[in-house]
Amino acid sequence: MCGIIGFAGNTEAVPILLDGLERLEYRGYDSAGVAVASPEGRLQVKKCKGRLGVLREALAAQKPLTGQVGIGHTRWATHGEPNDVNAHPHVSQSGKLAVVHNGIIENYLEIKQSLLHKGVVFASDTDTEVIVQLLEYYYKKSSNLMDAVYEVLNRIKGAYAMGILCSDFPEQLIAVRKDAPLLIGYGADGNYIASDVTALLAHTRTVTYMEDDEVAVVTADHVQILGRDGCFLEKEKHQIQWDVSAAEKGGYAHFMLKEIMEQPEAVRRTIQPRLADGEIVFEELEDERDLMKGISRIYLVACGSAYHVGMIGKYALERLLGIPVEACLASEFRYSAPLLGESALVIVISQSGETLDSMAALREAKRRGSKVLSIVNVMGSSIARESDHVLYTWAGPEIAVATTKAYTTQTVLLLMLGVYLARRLDRIGNGEYQEIVRELHGLHERIGMVLKNLELYQKTAARYFNHDSVFYIGRNQDYALGMEGSLKLKEISYIHSESYAAGELKHGTISLIEPGTLVVALAAYEPLVEKMRSNIVEVRSRGAEVVAMTTEETRDMIGSQASEVFVIPKIHTLLQPVLGVVPLQLFAYYIALNRGCDIDKPRNLAKSVTVE
Ligand code: F6R
Repeated sequence: MCGIIGFAGNTEAVPILLDGLERLEYRGYDSAGVAVASPEGRLQVKKCKGRLGVLREALAAQKPLTGQVGIGHTRWATHGEPNDVNAHPHVSQSGKLAVVHNGIIENYLEIKQSLLHKGVVFASDTDTEVIVQLLEYYYKKSSNLMDAVYEVLNRIKGAYAMGILCSDFPEQLIAVRKDAPLLIGYGADGNYIASDVTALLAHTRTVTYMEDDEVAVVTADHVQILGRDGCFLEKEKHQIQWDVSAAEKGGYAHFMLKEIMEQPEAVRRTIQPRLADGEIVFEELEDERDLMKGISRIYLVACGSAYHVGMIGKYALERLLGIPVEACLASEFRYSAPLLGESALVIVISQSGETLDSMAALREAKRRGSKVLSIVNVMGSSIARESDHVLYTWAGPEIAVATTKAYTTQTVLLLMLGVYLARRLDRIGNGEYQEIVRELHGLHERIGMVLKNLELYQKTAARYFNHDSVFYIGRNQDYALGMEGSLKLKEISYIHSESYAAGELKHGTISLIEPGTLVVALAAYEPLVEKMRSNIVEVRSRGAEVVAMTTEETRDMIGSQASEVFVIPKIHTLLQPVLGVVPLQLFAYYIALNRGCDIDKPRNLAKSVTVE
């Protein structure tokens, strides 16, 4: 949700800023802009509505912006429509200061009002502009830039990661963060700030994560980080393991397809380090061997696809552990009345580790005395850092806005956790446990088998891409899977789609089924597969066309009722969703491809949602 990059170094800033913005573009792509300080202290700004390509072209068509210190931004609009003026960087009235911002300033109207009374003239409709105008106001008063920054921080409310440039100090940029991600990178040619590591991988692997309320002053050869009280802080540096190629398309038409195809490896990397001598082991939980002591309920809290992982977890963990398990939307969690406290374990699931709603739920859970364990992909992200325990998925960078490999690795990790806890609580028989461990060893190969059927998914998508409404139905964990399949389809293809528990359809929604309606029926969950067959017959008898997903064992029973059938290899029921989601991802992908959609950057969306 908005991407920020900043550079202070010994080489021209603009190419570095544009390269960083390209890698951050998945965070928002309504508009983009850069500001560069020339060595003699002149701020040069270029910003445009539209994708980064528009900015690139505009820069190529004019005199180059020269300078070795600069900031850049790619926007997902919150306040103010996407246009050239509302694009970042925003510049103060005198032209001395420029700011890029990710987040929302909640009290911007009140601040704007008071500045308007003082005669400040605003150019844009954004909340961000109040930051830069307020900064100029305090800077004029105190003539001390850092004092002015702190005054601004005392005054603004909300979430922010910012990069600030001042023409009086053309050799430095200032970075600030609260409730929005920002990190510092240490490179050979200079130092960086960025919203996430993917923007920096080409330049450095050495980073420091900024914490809330910290302020950093970054020059070519020095980084100083200060606390809210102005004291210097000693911060740890981290080495990032991801390699640059992981964040590039590598010959694939889209990141989404590349990431789908990477799933065998991502799942293998997530599972293998946690299997040893026929056991599931979580070294991360070694100091907490009694994680479940005194726990009488579990909340799985997440947003979007990660919430769908939670839904699968609800079915699995409740059965495995024999205690109530609830999957909760993070955006609802803290506004409802969850039964938190010491007896509740809260598991937060997040790819980015920065989703604001999930973060807020985590903080609420901790505030109310619950232990928080998180399942996160991005190392060092805010959710990971604030949790009591973190289990990392080793999916590597996920660039496509629609999640795929993060979803499968989250699912498998949550299921492994459930089996591990059931074993510790003596709630799973040895035979079943050994079977699951065996199947985990070979799970990545089975995903590879599902990926071999690309032609079938392509052919099926080519047949149905013109439909304008699609229903996904399933029961139990297949219902949860349908939620994800439906989301994948609608977010990248813009086809209206809904997901229903198959048994619920006849309580209203079946009235929407008419001749030619496409129903994707998920019928892999063995205990309920016969009931699913009846539900398929019900919709077919109203004229629906059915695409089914099922297993080798039930291929005939289900396939005979469907126009097309996706078959997944035999596997323990618990692990089926990890295989079952793959055809749904590819079906959605090829439908979107047929419709000519912008698959990696669907309209209105952004990856990593850092606003409420
Ligand atoms: C959908 C998708 C989103 C995310 C959701 C949570 O394809 O990617 O629904 O799953 O925004 O994001 P994270 O996992 O980063 O917290």
